[in-house]
Amino acid sequence: MLSQNHLHVSLLYIVLLTGTKYGCGGGGCGACTVMVSKYDQLNNRVLHYTVNACLQPICTLHGAAVVTVEGIGSTKTKLHPVQERIAKAHGSQCGFCTPGMVMSMYTLLRNKPHPTMEDIREALGGNLCRCTGYRPIIDGFKTFCDVRVVEMMTPGKNDCVLNKYLIPCQISEELFHMDNVLPLDPSQDLIFPPELMIMGKKRACGSLCFQGDRLKLISPVDLTNLLELKTEYPEAPVVVGNTTIGINLLTFQLFVIYLLCVYVHAGVSMGAVCTLSSLKDEMERAVREMEAERTRGYQALLQTLRCLAGKQIRNMATIGGNILSANPKYDLNSVLAALDCTLQVMSKENGTRAITLNEELFTGFGKTALRPDEVLLSIDIPYSKPWEFVSAFRQAQRREFAFSIVNAGMKVLFREGTNIVESLNIYYGGVGPTLVKVGRTCQKLVGRSWGEELLADACRLLEEEVELSDSAHGGKVEYRKTLTTSFFFKFYMQVLQELRERDVNVCLLPLEYLSALKPFKNEVPQGHHSFQLVSNAQSSQDPVGHPMMHQAAFHQATGEAQYYDDIPAVQGELFVYMVTSTRAHAKIINIDPSEALGMTGVVTFLSAGDVPGQNRRMLFNNPEELFAEEEVSCVGQIIGAVVAESREQARRAAQMVKVTYQDLLPVFFTIEEAIQHQSFFDPKRKLERGDVGKAFETVDQILEDEIYLGGQEHFYMETQGLIAVPKGENGELELFVASQHSAYTQEVVGITLGIDSNKITCHVRRLGGAFGGKVMKIASLSAITATAAVKTGRPVRCVLERGDDMLITSGRHPFLGKYKVGYNNDGTIMAADITYYSNGGCTLNESLAVTLLHMDNGYKIPNLRGRGLVCKTYLPSYTAFRGFGGPQGLMVMESVLHEVAVKCGLPPQKVREINMYREEECYTHHKQLFSPRDMLRCWDECLDKAGYHDRLQAIQQFNTSNRWKKRGISAVPMKFGVGFSKGFFNQGAALVNIYKDGSVLVAHGGTEMGQGINTKALQIASRILKVPMSSIHIKETCTGNVPNAAPSAASFGTDAVGMAVKDACEKLMRRLKPFMENHPKYTWQQWVINKHPPGYKKVNIMMGPHTDMDWENSEGPAYYYFTFGACCSEVEIDCLTGDHKNLRTDIVMDVGRSLNPALDIGQIEGGFVQGIGLYTIEELQFSLEGVLMTRGPSQYKIPALCDVPPQFNVHLLANAQNPHAIYRSKGIGEPPVFLASTIFFAIKEAVAAARRERGLGDSFPLSSPATAERIRMACEDQFTEMAPSPKKGTFKPWSINI
Ligand SMILES: Cc1cc2nc3c(=O)[nH]c(=O)nc-3n(C[C@H](O)[C@H](O)[C@H](O)COP(=O)(O)OP(=O)(O)OC[C@H]3O[C@@H](n4cnc5c(N)ncnc54)[C@H](O)[C@@H]3O)c2cc1C
Ligand code: FES
Ligand code: FES
Repeated sequence: MLSQNHLHVSLLYIVLLTGTKYGCGGGGCGACTVMVSKYDQLNNRVLHYTVNACLQPICTLHGAAVVTVEGIGSTKTKLHPVQERIAKAHGSQCGFCTPGMVMSMYTLLRNKPHPTMEDIREALGGNLCRCTGYRPIIDGFKTFCDVRVVEMMTPGKNDCVLNKYLIPCQISEELFHMDNVLPLDPSQDLIFPPELMIMGKKRACGSLCFQGDRLKLISPVDLTNLLELKTEYPEAPVVVGNTTIGINLLTFQLFVIYLLCVYVHAGVSMGAVCTLSSLKDEMERAVREMEAERTRGYQALLQTLRCLAGKQIRNMATIGGNILSANPKYDLNSVLAALDCTLQVMSKENGTRAITLNEELFTGFGKTALRPDEVLLSIDIPYSKPWEFVSAFRQAQRREFAFSIVNAGMKVLFREGTNIVESLNIYYGGVGPTLVKVGRTCQKLVGRSWGEELLADACRLLEEEVELSDSAHGGKVEYRKTLTTSFFFKFYMQVLQELRERDVNVCLLPLEYLSALKPFKNEVPQGHHSFQLVSNAQSSQDPVGHPMMHQAAFHQATGEAQYYDDIPAVQGELFVYMVTSTRAHAKIINIDPSEALGMTGVVTFLSAGDVPGQNRRMLFNNPEELFAEEEVSCVGQIIGAVVAESREQARRAAQMVKVTYQDLLPVFFTIEEAIQHQSFFDPKRKLERGDVGKAFETVDQILEDEIYLGGQEHFYMETQGLIAVPKGENGELELFVASQHSAYTQEVVGITLGIDSNKITCHVRRLGGAFGGKVMKIASLSAITATAAVKTGRPVRCVLERGDDMLITSGRHPFLGKYKVGYNNDGTIMAADITYYSNGGCTLNESLAVTLLHMDNGYKIPNLRGRGLVCKTYLPSYTAFRGFGGPQGLMVMESVLHEVAVKCGLPPQKVREINMYREEECYTHHKQLFSPRDMLRCWDECLDKAGYHDRLQAIQQFNTSNRWKKRGISAVPMKFGVGFSKGFFNQGAALVNIYKDGSVLVAHGGTEMGQGINTKALQIASRILKVPMSSIHIKETCTGNVPNAAPSAASFGTDAVGMAVKDACEKLMRRLKPFMENHPKYTWQQWVINKHPPGYKKVNIMMGPHTDMDWENSEGPAYYYFTFGACCSEVEIDCLTGDHKNLRTDIVMDVGRSLNPALDIGQIEGGFVQGIGLYTIEELQFSLEGVLMTRGPSQYKIPALCDVPPQFNVHLLANAQNPHAIYRSKGIGEPPVFLASTIFFAIKEAVAAARRERGLGDSFPLSSPATAERIRMACEDQFTEMAPSPKKGTFKPWSINI
């Protein structure tokens, strides 16, 4: 039953089941994927397709069946094979993306029970995963492909590997097996409801009208009815796919109309409401069935459609909607306009008229020349003429599932049999607020011969005609200008090639140019894995060391796994929504919530004055206000909060709270500005070994340079939030919270409310990803929500929307590394002096420079000095993120190595080898003793397994034969400290209960956030107690069971928790032992019953060895131990567009003796892919006013399936040991992120190859991330020269590098 308030609401909020997840609310992540089935009258069949529930208005589903993940299988009845296989293949870590993945695959199988790998790639293109790195998901799903493909990938077992240090051991490549999996049986699938079939066959069911309190939605019965409605309500939008209108559906009416696609004699006429998927199908059919010459335009369209959005969006979005959205970043208009398409539009008053799709149709951003009462009926896409050539181009931040930065459609018609241009059409999108036709350029080229002179003139003309001011909206101005000429150059070459193939006398295209014409092919990642098998002596019942499946994977795959926002509404529950600052630095003059308070459903408004205890959160004596009281110091700072009966009411009311500010000075955001203002937090840290100053006097060469690294958003799939439930008695409060440090949350809430921690209980069952982002800010949100609960006396829920989460909670610190390095001509680095400036934002938070501790990586630089300065700026405070300073610190050091190699003219890998730690006993720059032996083993094995030296040669060969595509390869070693440098955090606690029935309940202080800490804890408990894992249960993390736990962070969670569980279980077993020995024939249950009660419960706290840093004297055991690894990656770049493709990655990682190779390899792959995002794609953009503009997956791109190297091999180092941690294992959560720097340096190598050909130096600046824009602009050539950078200070840039 729909309530009136639900009319405009998407399917996501109506489905009161837990499997369909909110990840972004804008179609950008796929977490909400469901299958919709509809009866298709035209073809008399049922269509099954995926949609994003978050964009699917509930009213548009009349007559449709919706299947969610719960509908296809469950752990209570039977799993669906898709659910079973993703789980068994280790494709579910935090599990938040898993139901969406399952539904995409399920729908594919409904339509095609024997899919190809390409089908799977296409089906999953619109689903993001932040944890796994996608490879295991593919591994699970590819078992549905042809037997041949599966066989090819069936893993095996290597009997024996003899490594040069230690004993032989058995190596396995089998992370999972599918021996006893359920077969796919389509006959078991849900049938389309017969009543809907009958309804569908009856044709139109009459006009439908949905009337809400603010909204009226009308679904017209037919075209006549639609036209009447459009006459009556001309301002009402026609909502079809709703992918542009989306959550802005705050309009008055809804019309739905379905027109079908038909062939007509002069081309294809597509009904305006045909989806992009059906457009693609039609184009493919036409290309298949007709002569190639007639379908050139369709081929161009297909080129664009293949990477336009994801499958779900293409299933919903319509061609008419794409055109009429009049958004120049949408891809179709430039191609359709180049093809001279005609639109058929119709109104009741004027009937039908045809209009040409060209630049005149678009009167402004989002505006067209259609009259308000007109609707678009269809689009006629003509066949190509015999001497016509067409191409489409697009370049986006990410190759797939991303809006284009610039797109283009180009068509040229030649006089028959010649290279004389008869007509030329060139359209660009993304270079202005509307579609741009370069008419003057085209006109001047008519009648000219297609040759080099034309090319030169065309580029000059394009440069003159494409007007893009230096301050243009969207920024990237030089890049966008360069793309316009580069695209044309590609078009020129394509056409030249085709003319030659037709024996037209045109100039010869050099062979090495040809690869520029081939777009990168997207492939699915596959890989080889190897790990050491447990010894033959280990009991077959003992699960430690085996690749056990994530303990909750089945529940995650069926949607039964509960996250905080899946907890059903508690009686009387309210919703809280934050009111945030819109100014970066200002005095708060007044906060006026009166209008908000007068709105329906609003219960109260909170601000600093409502906090019963202290309005601040402390971390190591650094306070941070919960609500800004007098001043704001960043955009996004919380000022107040509205509490209302529903999410929507709270959201709307929050926008009505009026805050009056008085701007204050100074205000600045960038590291550069902070240095000018000398605005740094204390303490400023320094580490030093040797005598740096003296060493500089003796070296052959000195180099000074810098590298900038941008920040990163956590983009965990589950946004932050909680439910606070007052218990009524003694002021007790329960919190169900997405925190990876529940003890800290408990403490902060207590201080805020002025009550003792013993009255506050935090429960955390699991997190949908965290990556360090759910340690600090969630405590503030919890304190505010708890305040709301206490003030109202009712339960209160807080769920941050994706945009608010990105704005308020912030992420990884941007860094600027400035260095001076002294080296000898043979590549030996004798001295380095590095200053790390990090942008800490407006409060210190956790920003203290741990970077310095990582700075030496695996290199023994005898004289090394590092300074760490945390810049205080007027931005939201930066916080912990996987690796916490490591990925930045290590990256700066690798830049030093890279640049020294370039200057010495040596291969970078050689310079790395020359400078590595090599002695058995080495000391870090902070005087911590370690052995680099396993790092060196990882390095050698990695280069060997990757075939580095052979491939280096092949790459050189490739680069010589290809002018516009270049390849690069890079390898780095890694030494990464594990544990907290503040020793008291290195502790874990566990509570083990053994019940009389023999079952065991383990509780620990760690947080399950996908890394598999619970699975490992179960493996450990099972080993000690000698009971199967199935008899041991872990329910949740609860401050009531395990108090004062440390955060699950610093790669240390399993070490700490694992030891505590082991210790607790061992103590219990010691108590049971005498009894067991006396009754050897008893079962476990009998032992437990008889020994009860003293043997049933054990709480254990385990303290790790002391770590501490003496910063004054640059010494101290900062870490428990070091995790080592090495990685080698190869990439290919397109020098004309800046696009790049990751080709292959090989990782060898030392995780000690892995507790669970599947989970460890999962962490390595997932961390690495997150690193791909950090170093190559993910770019945060801030306005000049300090406003974060990238606030969702549409603007901020994390790696998708297309970014994972198709060859992705991960090997765990055999015979590795670690005496310091549980069962000789090592922490692995954080280290792999840095390994993706190999992709960055491989890109740099590839760019250098391009520059060398132009006689440019190998040494050039490249900031991280190496985005398409940066790659393109670094490949300087005649096209970049035409778009020079404007002088700093002469214009107002659209965004700033903070
Ligand atoms: C996550 C995501 C990724 C995307 N990626 C891309 C991409 O890479 N490239 C790209 O080109 N696009 C992309 N899009 C945009 C998408 O293609 C368009 O949103 C879609 O085509 C619009 O169609 P719709 O049916 O959903 O339009 P709606 O949102 O329903 O409507 C859009 C507008 O068109 C009007 N309209 C629609 N049909 C008619 C009609 N028949 N007569 C009169 N007016 C009409 C509506 O009134 C409204 O103003 C993406 C969208 C999302 C959400
Ligand atoms: S929540 Fe629907 S796509 Fe992200
Ligand atoms: S498992 Fe995919 S987002 Fe966590």
